[in-house]
Amino acid sequence: MALHIPQIIGHRGCAGYAPENTLEGIHTAADMGIEWVEFDVKLTKDQVPVLFHDETLERTTNSSGNVKDLTLAEIKELDAGSWFAEGFFGVTVPTLEEALEVLLERNLGLNLEIKPCPGREKETAEVALDILSSIWDDHNRVLISSFQHVSLETSMDMASDWSRGLLLPAEWPENWKELAEYLQVSTININGNEVTQEQVEEALELEKPILAYTINDSSRARYLQSWGVDGFFSDTPDELQDGLFSVH
Ligand code: G3P
Ligand code: MG
Repeated sequence: MALHIPQIIGHRGCAGYAPENTLEGIHTAADMGIEWVEFDVKLTKDQVPVLFHDETLERTTNSSGNVKDLTLAEIKELDAGSWFAEGFFGVTVPTLEEALEVLLERNLGLNLEIKPCPGREKETAEVALDILSSIWDDHNRVLISSFQHVSLETSMDMASDWSRGLLLPAEWPENWKELAEYLQVSTININGNEVTQEQVEEALELEKPILAYTINDSSRARYLQSWGVDGFFSDTPDELQDGLFSVH
């Protein structure tokens, strides 16, 4: 397997220029010439994986309450665009399936972040991977990541041949190296705004690509790159494009 991860990955689609985790965001990234996007997936009440970051609806829709309490039909009624800008009125929350179809149509790679609501770590991974496997066959252009170790473990058990990335929060768990080894991850995904050079040096010892989220500032990206970070999740990928050393 030759996982090909580009230097810059559109974060939540292209969250600086279009509402996050929407098809519009994926199209925006593709229009900008971005090769991969990252998005977050969780389950509706009726077990459909949708693109959504928060556990609650307030921040990114015109409604309130918990995502896990709404069926897909109910979530599809919501406006997930106006909060970002009036011009995006009527944009809906996409299903994973709809998003994958757009990625294929636009020839984009994917970092699928499994972002389960608490208690749904296993089933979210199971349902998302079932759909991914039924639609997608290019293993070189997909990375499955999660902060939830159970979700990564489920991915490993169900579909060990899809590459996995260990998402580390700002505070690294003490056993992060053991987790990386146990979960057989291909990448280490770090909080690039909080990480220290010493931590990056430790991560480099694993000899795996290091990806940093969420970097919208080109000087920070350059610092991280000089420390050995390989790739960057960015809401504003164009801000980073010119400042990085090319590694191709
Ligand atoms: O996968 C990188 C990044 O998206 C992780 O943080 O909260 O933006 O999903 P968050
Ligand atoms: Mg994410």
